[in-house]
Amino acid sequence: MQDLLELARRMMGRAHAPYSKFHVGAALRADDGSIHGGCNVENAAYPQGTCAEAGAIAAMVAAGRTRIVECLVIGPGPDLITPCGGCRQKLREFARDDLPIHLCGPDGPVRTVTLGELFPMSFGPHHLAKP
Ligand code: THU
Repeated sequence: MQDLLELARRMMGRAHAPYSKFHVGAALRADDGSIHGGCNVENAAYPQGTCAEAGAIAAMVAAGRTRIVECLVIGPGPDLITPCGGCRQKLREFARDDLPIHLCGPDGPVRTVTLGELFPMSFGPHHLAKP
């Protein structure tokens, strides 16, 4: 988990968040062991901003991986940061319900939950699978 924490912290430092000033970093481990990070990238046209998790997912897919096996998200605190609703759906595309998500306070991981706990009864790729 240390490698994910280091990457997510580095990503957090690169966040473009001049509007919220809330810097977020995310790191994912893909099924081949490779790790991928992202930060939130805000925009003057507010809805066009993207979350750190979305950036990490894009980096992972661009690197040729489509299965997430571990996830870590870090924010400025004081509360534990949890992926927003949209990011839960984005993670679901590439992960099973048992995906561990390490939630961090400003000093690092505090609690690990599963995607299924955060996002029960989710709509996912299996709903579109042809019989
Ligand atoms: N944010 C993330 O990057 N990930 C989340 O899961 C929660 C929110 C970002 C979006 C926005 O740039 C800032 O945090 C404040 O909402």
